Amino acid sequence: MENKELVREALEARKQSYCPYSSFAVGAALLCGDGTIFRGCNIENAAYPATNCAERTAFFTAIAKGERDFVAVAIAGGKAGEEPEDFCAPCGVCRLVMREFCGDAFVIILAKPGEEKVYTLKDLLPQSFSPRDVLGEKAKR
Ligand code: THU
Repeated sequence: MENKELVREALEARKQSYCPYSSFAVGAALLCGDGTIFRGCNIENAAYPATNCAERTAFFTAIAKGERDFVAVAIAGGKAGEEPEDFCAPCGVCRLVMREFCGDAFVIILAKPGEEKVYTLKDLLPQSFSPRDVLGEKAKR
């Protein structure tokens, strides 16, 4: 799977964004170990904290389907109705959700049309609190 293909999926996912409050539309495409891709968009709420980010929508959709093996996520965000102008990095809560289900080498692709920046989860969440801190050796990560 090429990064470009995953980025295309994120841009498609972004079209479903429900963002009447911020007008900031985000799309994410999550690649699983078996090649399956799950799309997610941000879903806002009149009670703002109830908003769900695009990344978590993709993760929770995949997890609810039984997926547990994740390879990479592509993320694209910006003003709704326009092409993203800047890179959109995942928020802290989304990074923690990634940490729960992914290892250090999980790939995070930030995308805007024609350009991408590639990181690992370790790059974006160093020295993290993880399942191992609570569960010890029983933890997968
Ligand atoms: N948002 C995401 O979906 N993902 C991110 O990584 C950053 C922020 C959403 C939440 C909210 O709907 C809008 O962007 C503005 O914060």
